[in-house]
Amino acid sequence: MDKEIQLSFSYPTNVIFKRGATKELSEILKQHDFGKSCLLVTGSNFARKTGYLDLLKNELRKINCETYVYDNVEPNPSIETVESGAMLASKMNVNFILAFGGGSVIDAAKAITLVYSSGKRIQNFLGDMSVSINTIPLVALPTTAGTGSEVSKYSVLTDVKQKKKLAIGGPALFPKLSILDPDTLITLPPNFVASTGIDALSHALESFFSKNSTVFSDVLSKESTRIILNNLPRAFGGDSEAKMWMMYASMLAGLSINITSTNVIHALGYYLTMHYGIPHGLANAMFLVNALEYEESFLTERFAELSEALGHSSPDNVVKSRLLLKDISLLLDALRIPRNLKEIGVKEDEIYSLVEEVTQNYSRNLLNSPIDLNREKLIEICKNAYVGRF
Ligand SMILES: [Fe+2]
Repeated sequence: MDKEIQLSFSYPTNVIFKRGATKELSEILKQHDFGKSCLLVTGSNFARKTGYLDLLKNELRKINCETYVYDNVEPNPSIETVESGAMLASKMNVNFILAFGGGSVIDAAKAITLVYSSGKRIQNFLGDMSVSINTIPLVALPTTAGTGSEVSKYSVLTDVKQKKKLAIGGPALFPKLSILDPDTLITLPPNFVASTGIDALSHALESFFSKNSTVFSDVLSKESTRIILNNLPRAFGGDSEAKMWMMYASMLAGLSINITSTNVIHALGYYLTMHYGIPHGLANAMFLVNALEYEESFLTERFAELSEALGHSSPDNVVKSRLLLKDISLLLDALRIPRNLKEIGVKEDEIYSLVEEVTQNYSRNLLNSPIDLNREKLIEICKNAYVGRF
C-alpha cells in the first residue's frame, strides 16, 4: 500500500437542487425556523428586472416574514458595501439573511452575516481562514453557475483603495441553506455563462492539481471537469439543460475547493480583475492553459490520470496530458475567450510588477500549488500567457 487514506470533513449546509425551487421558497422556509425578519441581499439589476425580487418578497410575505432589501452589491464587492449592508441588518434587527445573485452577492452576504452577527468590523475577519463564530442563518440562492460560493466556506471581498482581493474563510461562512434552481439561469447572457463557467472549471482543475487534494476531492473535481467540458459550449449557446448541468458542476467544484482551496490561476487572475476590471472567471481563463501547461511538466502522471478519467487513452502519459490541455484550449476558443494577455491590454514589461504584486498579495493561494512557484516560474507562466495559449 503506497498511500494511506486520511480524511477529515463535515458539511453543514442543507442543499436543495430543484428546477423551480425559487417559486417554492415559502414552503421550503416553513421547514426551517429562521425567524420573521429577513435582509434580502442582491445586486442592483437582475432581481428587479426579471421579476424575481417581487417573487421573493411575495414568497416571504406568505410566511409573514418582514423583508428589507439591500440591493447595492456590485461585482467584486467592497468592504464598504459589506459594512453598510451590516448596518441595515442591524437597524432592522433581522433574523436571517437571504442572498439572491451571483458569487459577488453571496460573498457579500456572507460577510454581512459575519459583521452583523458578531458586532465587529469586517477588518477583524479579513485574511482569517478559520472563522468559526456563531452567526444568524444565511440562505443562498445562486443565479450564476460558477462561483460555488453557495456551498463554500469562502468569501472574497475587494479593498478598492489598495486594489487587492481579500479572502475570509471558515465554518462560519457556510450558508445554512442553499437553494439551487436552474431556472434562475435561463436569461443568463452568454458572456456571463462563459466567464462564470470558466471560474467553475478553474476551481475543479486547481482543486485536482492542488497539493491539498484528497481521494475525495478528486471525485468531485474529476466529475466537475468532465461535466463542464461536455456542457459549457451548449450552455454558452443558451441550452437550458446544459445550464442546469453547469449549475451542478459548479456546485461540485465549490465542494471540492472547500477541501483544497484555489491556487495559482486564481492568484494571477485576481491581478487582472483588480487592474483591468476583467470579470473573475475570464481573468482566470487568461492564465488557465499556460499555468496548467507549466505544471504539466512536473506532474505528467497526475495530468494523465485526469485525461484518462475524461475518456482519453494512450500508452504515453505525455500524449494523454496534451490531449487534456488541448480539450481546455478548444473550450476557451469555443467561448471566444481572448487568446493572450496582449489582447486585453497588458504590456509585456508589466509582467514583472504583476508577479511582484501576486507574490505579495496572494501567497496564500500560491502555497496550495503542488509545485514550488517562485518568482522566476511565475514570470515564465506569465510570459507564456502573454504569447498565448496553443
Ligand atoms: Fe473563483
